[in-house]
Amino acid sequence: MPLKVLVTGPIADLAAKKLSAFAVVDFYRNEKKLEGQEFTRRLSGCDAVVCQLSGPVTKETIDHNPSLKLIANVAVGYDNIDVEHATKKNILVLNTPGVLDDATADIAFALLISTARRIVEADKFLRAGKWKGFRLDLMLGSDLRDKTVGIIGFGRIGQAFARRCLGFGMKVLYTQRNRSEHEAELKAKYVSLDELLRSSDFVSIHCPLTKETKHLINDDTLSLVKPDCILVNTSRGPVVDSNALITALKRGKLRGAGLDVYENEPEVPKQLIEMDNVVLLPHIGSATEKTRLKMSELAVDGLIAAFSGNMPHNIVNKSVWDAFEKRIGTLTATK
Ligand code: NDP
Ligand code: DGY
Repeated sequence: MPLKVLVTGPIADLAAKKLSAFAVVDFYRNEKKLEGQEFTRRLSGCDAVVCQLSGPVTKETIDHNPSLKLIANVAVGYDNIDVEHATKKNILVLNTPGVLDDATADIAFALLISTARRIVEADKFLRAGKWKGFRLDLMLGSDLRDKTVGIIGFGRIGQAFARRCLGFGMKVLYTQRNRSEHEAELKAKYVSLDELLRSSDFVSIHCPLTKETKHLINDDTLSLVKPDCILVNTSRGPVVDSNALITALKRGKLRGAGLDVYENEPEVPKQLIEMDNVVLLPHIGSATEKTRLKMSELAVDGLIAAFSGNMPHNIVNKSVWDAFEKRIGTLTATK
C-alpha cells in the first residue's frame, strides 16, 4: 500500500513537490480552515498529516484515525496538537525548531521598537493629515539604550531576541524554569518572574504555551510591572490573559503593547484595536519567504526520513520512535 498523507494548508512549492514524489498526497487548498469533523473525515485512511496551527489535532481526531502514524507540524510550537494522546497511540510528532529563530526575533524586536517609538501611531497621524510641522514635543517615545529588557523563555528565539537587544545597548534579564548555559555569552541575568517584572522596562515573551504558562501574565503578575513598561508577545496568545492586559493598558499600568498572537485567533479584542499605544500583527513572526520554505522543508524532510526508517532530529516525542518503526514495518513508504 502506498503512503497516504494529508496536507492541511499551503506549504512551500519545493516541499510539496518533494512530498508528492514520495507519497500519495491530498492537498487541502480551501481558505476555510480544516478542523473538527471535516478534518477527521478527510484524514481517514491517511498515514500522516502535515498540519498547521489553524487546525487543532485533538484526541478525537486521533482516535477516529487509527491509521495515523505521524503528525508533522509546520511550526515550532505544538500546543495545537494533543501530543500526550498522540504519544499514547504511538504517533510520532514532528515540529520545525531552529529555522525560524531570527525571523521571529526580528518581529519581536520590531514590535518593541514600534511600540516604544510610536511608529505605527505616527504613521497613522501623518496619513490622517494631522501633521502641522516639526515640534519638539511631537510623538515622544521611550529610549532603548540603557533600558532593561526582561525575556520570559530564554530558548532559541528568546536568545536571538536578546542578541538584538544587546546590539541596542540594553541590559538583559531572563526567566525560565532552568538556568541557561548561554547567559554569560549573552550577558543575561537569571531572575525570578516577579523580579523580572519588577525590574524591566520592556518584557518580551518567548516561552511555549503549556498548562503552566497559560495566563502567566494576568492581573497579579501585571500588578508588578514598572510604570511605563511595554509588553511584547510573539509566543502564544493564551500566555497573556487578554482581559488583564486590556485593563492594565486602560489604567496606564502598561505604557504599550506589541502583539503578534492572540487568545482566540483570528479574533482580536475590539478594545485593543482601538488603542493607539498597541501595535497589532496577524501572527507573522516567522513569515519570511526563506523561513517558510525552511519550515516546510523541515516538516516534509522529517516525514520522509521517518517513513524511510531514519530518525529525524525534529521529533517532539522521541519515546515513540521504536513503536513507530514497528508500525511502519508493513508499509512500502515510497509510491
Ligand atoms: P524553545 O523550546 O527553544 O524555548 C522555549 C523556552 O521557554 C525554553 O528555554 C524553556 O526553558 C522556556 N519555558 C518553558 N516553560 C516555561 C515556563 N513555565 N516559564 C518560563 N519559561 C518557560 O522554543 P523556541 O524559542 O523555539 O519557541 C518558543 C515559542 O515561540 C514557541 O513554542 C511558539 O509558541 C512561539 N513561536 C511563535 C512564532 C510566531 O510566529 N509568533 C514563531 C515561532 C515560535 P525551561 O524549560 O528552562 O523553562
Ligand atoms: C510557530 O512556529 O510556532 C509559529 O507560531 C508559526 O511559525
